[in-house]
Amino acid sequence: MEISEASRRILASLLEARTGQQLASNRRWRIDTALAAIMRDRGYVNIDQLVSRLVSRADPKLGDEVIEALLNNETYFFRDRLPFDLLLAGPLKRLEAARASERRLAIWCAGCSTGQEAYSLAMSFAEEKARWQGWRIEIVATDLSKAAIARAKAGVYSQFEVQRGLPVMQMIRWFDELGGGDWAISQVLRDMVRFEPRNIIEPVPAPGRFDIILCRNLLLYFAPDMRRLAFGRLAEAIAPDGTLMLGAGETVIGQTERFISDPDCRGLYLPAPPRASAQSRVA
Ligand SMILES: C[S@@+](CC[C@H](N)C(=O)[O-])C[C@H]1O[C@@H](n2cnc3c(N)ncnc32)[C@H](O)[C@@H]1O
Repeated sequence: MEISEASRRILASLLEARTGQQLASNRRWRIDTALAAIMRDRGYVNIDQLVSRLVSRADPKLGDEVIEALLNNETYFFRDRLPFDLLLAGPLKRLEAARASERRLAIWCAGCSTGQEAYSLAMSFAEEKARWQGWRIEIVATDLSKAAIARAKAGVYSQFEVQRGLPVMQMIRWFDELGGGDWAISQVLRDMVRFEPRNIIEPVPAPGRFDIILCRNLLLYFAPDMRRLAFGRLAEAIAPDGTLMLGAGETVIGQTERFISDPDCRGLYLPAPPRASAQSRVA
């Protein structure tokens, strides 16, 4: 479907203002596919009509629906498995020793989409029940998309979704078949994760709280200044000896001074030492 340059620009600035995400030229093709359901439900004949309705503010819910539709919720269990293995083998062992007296670990999955990432972590802890006996493992998973959070809380996945990333043994162990091709995640895992809607750009409620933060495949399409702001939020939220995991194609290098590469674990990042990060805040 044709979309005028003016409408494209309005949609792009709405998306960037509300989420930080840029509608890069190579993602423009998504617009009409993403908005097709809204167009159909409301009977709009073209995107320009939708945009003029949006601009008129006559329909307060339309903006939220458009944002939801334009977000990319692509995810799967144990996505790019290697970083999970590295996290569990390296930084988690270090943090286990460092937190041995309080026996508490707090983990934040920022941009958790429909929950697969957070449940993958929950599975990893649940599969080592004896090791974590007596520990309080708190997994908080957040996403801007209320629809994604509702799906994550429901924990019901299609056959395709459960097979993607999960070996059959894990699928059988942690899911109940509901019939009709759907699988429900076990109550044990569901009880381990708290899902909440949250925009990563918002100030963090509890600074320094999280030992491990996963923020994967979210900042990739952020505008540089918004990405910097988001890294700032992550830096506020992470414990001084915590670990940050980004997506496979993401890095902190050249993006922020608040984190440095973990010399022992490729693809994982550590909060920058206080002096360096204080200087960067002034800069
Ligand atoms: C591509 S998914 C990645 C999901 C998961 N982290 C993974 O790597 O498989 C990106 C997620 O980030 C969310 N998102 C985009 N902008 C956001 C923002 N400003 N705050 C919080 N979540 C956001 C989207 O709704 C989407 O669910």
